[in-house]
Amino acid sequence: MKRKVYVILTAAGKGERFSKASKLKKPKQFIRLLGKPVILHSLLLFQKCKYVDGIFVTSGREYFEYIHSLAASGRIIKLSGLVEGGKTRFESVRNAFLEIKGNPYDLVLIHDAARPNINIDMVNDIIKAAMRSGEVIYGSKVSETVKRSKNGFVTETLNRKNLWFVQTPQVFRHDVLKSAYKKSGKKNDFTDESGMVERAGNRVKLMEGSKENIKITSASDITLLKKLMK
Ligand code: C5P
Repeated sequence: MKRKVYVILTAAGKGERFSKASKLKKPKQFIRLLGKPVILHSLLLFQKCKYVDGIFVTSGREYFEYIHSLAASGRIIKLSGLVEGGKTRFESVRNAFLEIKGNPYDLVLIHDAARPNINIDMVNDIIKAAMRSGEVIYGSKVSETVKRSKNGFVTETLNRKNLWFVQTPQVFRHDVLKSAYKKSGKKNDFTDESGMVERAGNRVKLMEGSKENIKITSASDITLLKKLMK
């Protein structure tokens, strides 16, 4: 049986910090960037990716109609479900995962809608790597010195040699994610799914991605992305 690949594109953040600072009313994943809403950049890419079978998008209910119309105008025929998000990113992704009726060896690719600067090679490469070795995440090596602090004073300088900044996409086997969710129980303070999968005792492969795969956090990220994605 062919292994299916499902995408969870998480877009349920309210982006209050970003909206306040940038004076834009919409959450960052819906503002326009180079002629289209930020989320549409990733939707079009996953639609185009030959490995992807279905796309589940999380958002607030008030955006369901808007996303439907975006999908219709962009011919995103792989859109398989709109799922209401939760209070945290972790809860939003879990809500979407519960909607996927996958087989154990199917793959689930999780991506932040607020990271529009990905390309088809990156997506194909991580899916192919996951087909070979299971759990795979993108990251970039830390190139600055990192310190731990207490009350504003340095307590430790970390060895950066083995430190990574972690990004999305992240890809997991369906059964591995399912049992990691089960094992994690009520614990829900993970900042990414890899954290939960690691804690459940699985090996996660790190793949070096691009430092330009930035997550929109402030208005200056939009200016930077416009230059990078032109
Ligand atoms: O808030 P942060 O920048 O970490 O958000 C990363 C991604 O997670 C964004 O695409 C955002 O829409 C999503 N998110 C979510 N549900 C939340 C909070 C954030 O899907 N409750």
